[in-house]
Amino acid sequence: MQYEQLASEGAMRFREKERPLLLAIETSCDETAAAVLEGANLVRSMTVFTQIPLHEKYGGVVPEIASRSHVEKVGAVTDAALKQAGITIRDVDAVAVTYGPGLVGALLVGISYAKGLAFAAGKPLVGVNHIAGHIAANYLTYPDLEPPFVCLVASGGHSHIVRVDERCRFTLLGCTRDDAAGEAFDKVARVLGLGYPGGPKLEALAKEGDPHAFRLHAGFNDKPNLDFSFSGLKTAVINLVHTAEQRGENLRAVDVAASFQHAVVETLAEKSVRACLESGMKTLALAGGVSANRALREAMGQKAEQAGLRFCCPDFRFCTDNAAMIACAGYHALMAGQLSPLSLNAVPGLQLASPEIK
Ligand code: KG4
Ligand code: ZN
Repeated sequence: MQYEQLASEGAMRFREKERPLLLAIETSCDETAAAVLEGANLVRSMTVFTQIPLHEKYGGVVPEIASRSHVEKVGAVTDAALKQAGITIRDVDAVAVTYGPGLVGALLVGISYAKGLAFAAGKPLVGVNHIAGHIAANYLTYPDLEPPFVCLVASGGHSHIVRVDERCRFTLLGCTRDDAAGEAFDKVARVLGLGYPGGPKLEALAKEGDPHAFRLHAGFNDKPNLDFSFSGLKTAVINLVHTAEQRGENLRAVDVAASFQHAVVETLAEKSVRACLESGMKTLALAGGVSANRALREAMGQKAEQAGLRFCCPDFRFCTDNAAMIACAGYHALMAGQLSPLSLNAVPGLQLASPEIK
């Protein structure tokens, strides 16, 4: 039988099964990850090989090194996920893989591997948008969560306010005009000499500092739109550090970190709560690597509560890149009738949604 026919019959069986098994692979940036999901939200296994030590000495992700490392690890990481779940590829009902956005070489490794597996084992294949994956991390944590709701996606490459209309249908309400929130954390961390990845290190430093020591603001903070700008804030921190250096003054890095984090968190929380209220939604969710930031989780939680909104944020293990969230988004995509051909290609600039037309 031709692969296409096997895949479409397999996809039909997937939808009919009560608890189908889905294998997911994620290689969009600097984490090689695989996971097995049973049904909509039981994570049977998840494995992540992080490349952080490989990129650390360069102060950021080196795409060529990332691709090579994915090639070396994707097989072992996938095997480990299957083994931990106590199954083999024959037991899997479908294969999901991230096909964008991300680094093209890195994405291609996961896609090629997933296609090879799907073809060899005659399993349906579904390409998943990485951002849809981050949003789906919330379904793993809150099985009762149903669209519509508003979600702030804050990662290394994105700061999007998204209205989740249906599980596979999204509307973009606002986004960053320059740097993403995670990118701003990483760049400021570098200026403070904290190394890569900067987000968690900056958060740890900020704990000891005074968030009101310096008057820092993100761009568009006082504007009625739902967009962000973090590049001016980053420049303000760089200027602060350089001026202090030139004057021979001792700048308290803990206070700089705390003031910077406060500025980012305030604007993210403020605008996402406003987006939720303006679009008449009752639930606000948070997703993306920056959702691991406790100050952001707390600020959003508090502001949402004051506004009478339900607030959801993923378990810490589902915040930064992982394949369980890709599996969850893949599950919903398959349930919605999506299926990818073997010609599936990487789309580095893949968009999640179009802006709202008012
Ligand atoms: O979603 P993710 O793992 O990868 C991308 O899709 O980009 O997000 C990684 C980003 C990095 O910029 C990292 O510094 C940031 O998330 N991040 C954090 C924290 N943990 C990760 N930013 C602030 N506080 C954290 N605790
Ligand atoms: Zn991500």
